[in-house]
Amino acid sequence: MIKKHLPYYLLIVLLLSLSCSKTKSNNNSAKTVEAILDNRYQKLAEYQVDSTAFPRSLNLKTNTIQKVPSSDWTSGFFAGNLWQIYQLTKEDLYKNQAKKWTAFIEKEKHNNRTHDMGFKVFCSFGKSLEVENNTNYKKIIVESAETLSTRFNENIGSIRSWDFNADIWQFPVIIDNMMNLELLFEATKISGDSTFHKLAVTHANTTLKNHFRADNSCFHVIDYDTITNQPRLKVTHQGFNDASSWARGQGWAIYGYTMAYRYTKDSKYLERAKATAAFYLNHKNLPEDGIPYWDFNDPAIPNAPRDVSAGTVVASALVELYGYTNNKTYLEYSKKVIDNLKSSNYILDEKNPAPFILNHSTGNWPKNDEIDEPIVYADYYFLETLLRLKAL
Ligand code: GLY
Repeated sequence: MIKKHLPYYLLIVLLLSLSCSKTKSNNNSAKTVEAILDNRYQKLAEYQVDSTAFPRSLNLKTNTIQKVPSSDWTSGFFAGNLWQIYQLTKEDLYKNQAKKWTAFIEKEKHNNRTHDMGFKVFCSFGKSLEVENNTNYKKIIVESAETLSTRFNENIGSIRSWDFNADIWQFPVIIDNMMNLELLFEATKISGDSTFHKLAVTHANTTLKNHFRADNSCFHVIDYDTITNQPRLKVTHQGFNDASSWARGQGWAIYGYTMAYRYTKDSKYLERAKATAAFYLNHKNLPEDGIPYWDFNDPAIPNAPRDVSAGTVVASALVELYGYTNNKTYLEYSKKVIDNLKSSNYILDEKNPAPFILNHSTGNWPKNDEIDEPIVYADYYFLETLLRLKAL
């Protein structure tokens, strides 16, 4: 686990060594870091292709890869990682592997039991469209949007997130659901059918009304009453408690409203993205290196686990938000996160053969699941940030 405070003597040794070899070590370490990253990218290409075993995370205690089927919410990220590594390296090997893993996701276009269609289909097929203009991939995106639309309740004005816990929740909507709107916005652009765009806007407006607290942090789960259509519970599922700020949830909100602004140019989404980002960036518990603890209110801070995935989601979103605001604070944060992640503190040991790039993400702390370990979506938003910075 990354500690917030280094012992005093270690800090002095570090400062001395940095000041003695600053220029030389910067040049050398730049080369070394690129070589180390390249080595990690190769591990993704080497991972055995298997339609039933998408790599989701790596349990470092047992050194076992958690492998999931295409129905898992994380399945699309691995293909997305390969598409993005292809964009960074232009090596055909990555494109070839990306195509194979992307094809395995197609059957999810009919899966109406989840709101995670965007994560699965857009992070795989959607990413491929940045590389090649594939008509069949576009068709799959529209078909997936049609399936996702069946989860929309027009009286509540939202897409239903989960079907489990039916004895506790009537119509749960989680902040993560904002991320699935990108699939709907794109489906309208591809098909010309404005239904998807309108549905996404309604969902974003309902979330805007009910998911945020006065301090601009957000709730994880809003449960709607299916008779009155009003919120009946404001709770958490993956955060520390109902009143806390779960770092990745805050990240989904920042990313979600920045992305919604891209498609709508509605200033209230831009204001929401800025206010939500301000809560995150100005929080007293955001560590110096910019990588958040998994929840801003975990009383174990500074000894709580970090969540690199939250840091990379926000870093990617803030490069985009910088483009709409010209506010350098956003760009500085994203660059700082990337610089710090490109270090041995965070890059997975090069000897480890598992198909991941970064260590120290936290998936589901309340369930004691995926704590402080490599997780596929942290890599996805890391690569996306690299590409977004490169494109500036
Ligand atoms: N969408 C689930 C998560 O962020 O863990």
